[in-house]
Amino acid sequence: MAQACWFLAVLLALGCTSRPGRAGPFHAQCKVQWYFAIPCEVVYESLVEQIQRWRTLASCSQGGQKCLYKLQSASTHFITAKHVTPVQGHVDNITFRLVSYHFFSSCHVSAMSISESWYAVKDHGTNYCNLYNLVEGSGLTEARGYVEVTSDFLCTQRSSANCSVY
Ligand SMILES: *[C@@H]1O[C@H](CO)[C@@H](O)[C@H](O)[C@H]1NC(C)=O
Ligand SMILES: *[C@@H]1O[C@H](CO)[C@@H](O)[C@H](O)[C@H]1NC(C)=O
Repeated sequence: MAQACWFLAVLLALGCTSRPGRAGPFHAQCKVQWYFAIPCEVVYESLVEQIQRWRTLASCSQGGQKCLYKLQSASTHFITAKHVTPVQGHVDNITFRLVSYHFFSSCHVSAMSISESWYAVKDHGTNYCNLYNLVEGSGLTEARGYVEVTSDFLCTQRSSANCSVY
């Protein structure tokens, strides 16, 4: 009990010093695990191409958030990118970690998106959509053996997300 109180006190102190009067130091974020029965090379190329295809604002001319992605770094097993929301200009950090299994015939992807600003303790599922839209847009949701593992606990407002909007 004493330990729990101490932990809470530290959290409150952090919240108070960094964001007086705000909701605390928490950022909206999302973690998703994806499994594919195709090699990581194919997954890697699909994701990198999709990030580059949605670089400019042009791909949001019909609305939605499938634009303003920026590749930060890409090496066979690790991709980092940023996504800027077209209207408010919020920046989200995105990472994909790719690990081969079943003798390189399958690929496990751990993806994460986190809002750089504190704005979003409620993000309307934007962090989930940042990741999902790339996977869906590149056709990977149709790939052999596609499985997604996530939850509302791992992803802010995941179940109410409408990724054609956010
Ligand atoms: C986002 O990425 C930048 C580096 O590109 C880093 O400095 C920053 O701390 C990251 N923000 C969060 C919330 O992870
Ligand atoms: C998501 O939003 C679009 C555009 O507003 C709408 O057409 C669609 O029905 C919505 N989908 C869901 C599942 O709510």
